[in-house]
Amino acid sequence: MSPSPPKPLLLLPLLLLLLLLRTTSTEAATRTANATLPPSPSPTSSPTPPTTRTPSTSIHSILDPKQLRALQSMDIPTAKDPCIQPSPHNATICDSSSPFRHLVSLHLSNCSSDLALSYTALKSLSTLQSLSFTNCPVTPTRFPLDLALSLRSFTCIHSLKHLTGVGLSHFVNLTDLTVSNVPVNTSGLYVVLGNMHKLRIPSSITLLENLESLNLSSNALTGGIPSNFGDLISLKNVSLGSNSLSGAIPDSISAIPDLAHVDLSSNQLNGTIPKFFAEMKNLRYLNLANNEFHGVLPFNLTFMKRLAVIKVGGNSNLCYNHTILSSKLKLGIAPCDKHGLPLSPPPAKDDSSGDGSESDSSDYDDGSDDSSSKKEGHHGPNKVVLGLAIGLSSIVFLIVFLILLSKRCG
Ligand SMILES: *[C@@H]1O[C@H](CO)[C@@H](O)[C@H](O)[C@H]1NC(C)=O
Ligand SMILES: *[C@@H]1O[C@H](CO)[C@@H](O)[C@H](O)[C@H]1NC(C)=O
Ligand SMILES: *[C@@H]1O[C@H](CO)[C@@H](O)[C@H](O)[C@H]1NC(C)=O
Ligand SMILES: *[C@@H]1O[C@H](CO)[C@@H](O)[C@H](O)[C@H]1NC(C)=O
Ligand SMILES: *[C@@H]1O[C@H](CO)[C@@H](O)[C@H](O)[C@H]1NC(C)=O
Ligand SMILES: *[C@@H]1O[C@H](CO)[C@@H](O)[C@H](O)[C@H]1NC(C)=O
Ligand SMILES: *[C@@H]1O[C@H](CO)[C@@H](O)[C@H](O)[C@H]1NC(C)=O
Ligand SMILES: *[C@@H]1O[C@H](CO)[C@@H](O)[C@H](O)[C@H]1NC(C)=O
Ligand SMILES: *[C@@H]1O[C@H](CO)[C@@H](O)[C@H](O)[C@H]1NC(C)=O
Ligand SMILES: *[C@@H]1O[C@H](CO)[C@@H](O)[C@H](O)[C@H]1NC(C)=O
Repeated sequence: MSPSPPKPLLLLPLLLLLLLLRTTSTEAATRTANATLPPSPSPTSSPTPPTTRTPSTSIHSILDPKQLRALQSMDIPTAKDPCIQPSPHNATICDSSSPFRHLVSLHLSNCSSDLALSYTALKSLSTLQSLSFTNCPVTPTRFPLDLALSLRSFTCIHSLKHLTGVGLSHFVNLTDLTVSNVPVNTSGLYVVLGNMHKLRIPSSITLLENLESLNLSSNALTGGIPSNFGDLISLKNVSLGSNSLSGAIPDSISAIPDLAHVDLSSNQLNGTIPKFFAEMKNLRYLNLANNEFHGVLPFNLTFMKRLAVIKVGGNSNLCYNHTILSSKLKLGIAPCDKHGLPLSPPPAKDDSSGDGSESDSSDYDDGSDDSSSKKEGHHGPNKVVLGLAIGLSSIVFLIVFLILLSKRCG
């Protein structure tokens, strides 16, 4: 949990690229317009507005020449008006303002590695609400403040050579942040949260108080989940899965009122699983599988039935109270002994039950108070009965056959 200060800087470059990709309903509306757009102006053409414009819509207007130049500098084809929808790979989405339309969404994918993002180009794109990079190993530049403030959504998947938390601290209006598969070591969430303290921003975390979705999966993040994580008060979905996070789940998470989706799987988190998850009214998805949690799973059937998905398998020191939960839940962990320790080795992992099963309500059996030991007891006898039945019917069949045979011969 004690972050080492210098490392966070690595994470910031990752955050810069993902804001432009959202397909919004307004975009859908402009797409239905059946207008013959004028050819794209050359970057040097004078910004003469079209002489005739439909007053109610701006379908005849064209993309701002500055933004057109920026797209060209990013190797995005502009021979066809980038505002005509759908653009190739849905890379660009424009608003419908006039005389010039402006980009609201830009998605770069599969970029060439010599693509450079210039500050000038990014500055001209400060109308973007969504910016997204997928498989773009570009060397990022600084993000202009105007752009940082304008972004609502930023995604960086397997992209950008470096990413630090510094730039992110300016992205104060983000509601969606995805940074995934970034092959850079960082000191964990400190990059996103803690590093802002270095910028002497008074209440760093609350700068991201609009953040609803945080996805930092598969980044080799280390260190702990910051104790002030709960300051991300608007969070609905959080995925920190497949990193190397350690330590306990901080209590402050209990203060986030609308959490619906929590994925902390495949880390080295330890301690006990906090009971407060059961009090979170909106929680639908909880994945704590493949960590180092220990102790008794603090959940009852009422809570488990409310969730669409709960996964806790792959925690070898975690167990469930079999007077409260049935083994039918296939949680992928062992029942507890009276001391709260796993009674037997957890069931062998497989897809259906190993790292916790995706359970719908059909997996639950309310009326069942079966203890797991009772149910395990059934397995032996069932096999014996089946064997006996097969043996007996073979004998009967043989006798009938012999009788028929003897009648024929006789
Ligand atoms: C768009 O306009 C063209 C030519 O005016 C016409 O052929 C076509 O059917 C129209 N498409 C739609 C979807 O209205
Ligand atoms: C582009 O967006 C439209 C509408 O959202 C979608 O139907 C289409 O599959 C997308 N095309 C690509 C190549 O992603
Ligand atoms: C990017 O490359 C991947 C794999 O080569 C391919 O599946 C995907 O369709 C490409 N995406 C775009 C937008 O070109
Ligand atoms: C974004 O956040 C800044 C600072 O909180 C605010 O002034 C601005 O109005 C917000 N919205 C946009 C579109 O910049
Ligand atoms: C990344 O972290 C691993 C393990 O902590 C370390 O061995 C490696 O040297 C680090 N790489 C970089 C580029 O910092
Ligand atoms: C997080 O991002 C990864 C990589 O893009 C994706 O596979 C995963 O589904 C995302 N998780 C959530 C909860 O959106
Ligand atoms: C949990 O992990 C942290 C960091 O790796 C370690 O310092 C602590 O001792 C561990 N606690 C338990 C109960 O294993
Ligand atoms: C957020 O989580 C909910 C519940 O698991 C899920 O239905 C929804 O698609 C997720 N949204 C995003 C943006 O990942
Ligand atoms: C199940 O747990 C929840 C949350 O801890 C609690 O409010 C509820 O009363 C419990 N239900 C039963 C039947 O024990
Ligand atoms: C299991 O639950 C029962 C009933 O609530 C309780 O008496 C018992 O102490 C619990 N066992 C463990 C190991 O927590």
